[in-house]
Amino acid sequence: MRQNSAFRRMIRETILMVDDFIMPFFVVEGKGVKNAIKSMPGQFQFSIDNLIKECRKAFESGIPGVMIFGLPSKKNPLATEAYKKDGIVQRAVNKLKNKLPELAVITDVCLCQYTDHGHCGFVDGNKIDNDASLDLLAKTALSHARAGADMVAPSDMMDGRVAEIRNALDENDFSNIPIMSYAAKYCSAYYGPFRQAADSAPQFGDRRTYQMDPANALEAIREVTMDIEEGADIIMVKPAMAYLDIICRVRQEIDLPLAAYSVSGEYAMIKAAAKMGWVDGPKIMLESLTAIKRAGADMILTYFAMEAAKILREK
Ligand code: PBG
Ligand code: ZN
Repeated sequence: MRQNSAFRRMIRETILMVDDFIMPFFVVEGKGVKNAIKSMPGQFQFSIDNLIKECRKAFESGIPGVMIFGLPSKKNPLATEAYKKDGIVQRAVNKLKNKLPELAVITDVCLCQYTDHGHCGFVDGNKIDNDASLDLLAKTALSHARAGADMVAPSDMMDGRVAEIRNALDENDFSNIPIMSYAAKYCSAYYGPFRQAADSAPQFGDRRTYQMDPANALEAIREVTMDIEEGADIIMVKPAMAYLDIICRVRQEIDLPLAAYSVSGEYAMIKAAAKMGWVDGPKIMLESLTAIKRAGADMILTYFAMEAAKILREK
């Protein structure tokens, strides 16, 4: 059954499609800005004008959605730039929805790019105060919805934030805005390159008190179940490549749409090895994305989205 391509096509179980991809983007203040992100070759921080151009390219290549990360010009303990009416994400989303109304604009909801200490929640002394973070996260999500976001995606890993965000949205006439929850988000070294891209490295300690221990799998099911009970519409496992077992288990136990985030470190490792000539970049990219889909992901957040879309189209 493998002897010719016709048979192989007939029995192929997993078909990667451009519909599967969500492309992450980093947006910064300014005009005409296109800063190369050193730790992620081929990725950039864009000012809003250039972001629109890139998102148009993504949309025209068939990618259904983008995930927006903002880099504010100021940081402070209360992360006020995260939920400001005219914050960087709010203005970017507003423009994007204006220019590209059919592109699904998803916003990452977190505080770490906006707090001076770089943690994802409110910090009291040297402790992350889970409950004091919820209101700030809900305000942030609501401000994104007000700016026109099609979906909000909390990535902070505080307990109870999905319920708080759901409430805030419902009470303000945004009951139709879905929540994509970073439900099983591990405390991973694979986020290294992203923290450079988003300037979001914690200034003290680490994220082990709120992100999951890479050694745990059953706990992922508990995390996912809690988020669903709180009102999540799409659940996410993150990272992807080193957590295919988690994607597979969650897929078997849960019938909600499942997203997998193939993170910055996964992207950077493939790019680096390809640049060295040690692996075939495009092949290993497609194989990796196919594996993530085979494991059970319905959608994949990947920095390869544009590159993979191009290859799939040429096929
Ligand atoms: C912050 C956030 C991170 C990522 C997405 N949102 C990093 C972190 O938790 O430190 C990682 C994305 C990537 O590595 O590509 N809440
Ligand atoms: Zn964060």
